[in-house]
Amino acid sequence: MTTRLTGFTPSGDLHLGNYLGAIRPIVARQQHADTIAFISDLHALTLDHDPDAVRRRTLEFAALLMAAGADPERLLLMVQSHVPEHTELHYLLECTTGYGEAQRMIQFKEKSRQQQHQVRLSLLTYPVLMAADILLYDTDEVPVGNDQSQHVELARDVATRFNSRYGQTFAIPQAVNPAFAARIMDLAAPDAKMSKSASSAAGSLRLLDEPDTLRRKVMRAVTDPGDEVVYDPAGKPGVANLLAVLAACTDGDPVTLASQFDRYSDLKRAVADAVVATVGPVRERYLALAADPEYLRSVLRDGAKRARERAGDKVRAAKEAIGLLPA
Ligand code: TYM
Repeated sequence: MTTRLTGFTPSGDLHLGNYLGAIRPIVARQQHADTIAFISDLHALTLDHDPDAVRRRTLEFAALLMAAGADPERLLLMVQSHVPEHTELHYLLECTTGYGEAQRMIQFKEKSRQQQHQVRLSLLTYPVLMAADILLYDTDEVPVGNDQSQHVELARDVATRFNSRYGQTFAIPQAVNPAFAARIMDLAAPDAKMSKSASSAAGSLRLLDEPDTLRRKVMRAVTDPGDEVVYDPAGKPGVANLLAVLAACTDGDPVTLASQFDRYSDLKRAVADAVVATVGPVRERYLALAADPEYLRSVLRDGAKRARERAGDKVRAAKEAIGLLPA
């Protein structure tokens, strides 16, 4: 059976890009694949962070994943730091990764440039922790937006190198990107991706925004000169982004959809309806789930227990292969 895994870093507010890029894809196939979804809380410590906010968001993200359809009876849902094997394998993989390889990561370059305070060493090494997240469970497929594809490539390179140096230990994973939603752009600045931390409130469609707020943000989205509705990501990035959102929310195709609208305002109304129909029910279910934090915590405890049973064997195999004496 195919193993699929993906993670979410509790470093800001989950938005439609996260939902269409990774949450919906991982939930959609949970019946048919061995599926793991987790909150990558350790990754939230790589930039300036507020400890209380990380703790609060960890539970919030778990509730949102379940509100979006993640069913703990069918998939494994857990918090990364509850499974210490992730950090244990991280070190072994650091000993398999070059400094130059880590430095070439686009996210490291971008985020280290934006840091006001000292750049944390973990910002450089975090893609190696991400490789550990993936390789611990013999993951075949990693559903992600395209901003994470380079990190999955690194995990492939590290796994291939480890296997050829020390003997077959890890499955080789591959990134899986959704058709039109691998890079949803900021509605207020369509040349930048919608992002948990960097996006303006106006440009990000948050999963916990109220329907009226979602509608207002879509109606105010930045469009492009001219008035023709065509799918042209290079020439008309604002309109193309709205068409991509509409296509992803309605299982349509952006080119065909474009031909159905004569005016930007009609397109925006259709996008607003589709976004509210997609996100509204998730928010409703979230509010019900958030009222029972004890239940959420019990789901996460159970997920961590099951994850540790699987991860322990892999760490033991990797330690032995790399040359450590069994205790
Ligand atoms: P994170 O938390 O930044 O994002 C979670 C997921 O959402 C996707 N995404 C988007 N997709 C489409 N359009 C966008 N504008 C957009 N913004 C974000 C991301 O690509 C991601 O799939 N390091 C990861 C979390 C992680 C992980 C892993 C993922 C940790 N370990 C192992 C996969 C496998 C991160 O910070 O994603």
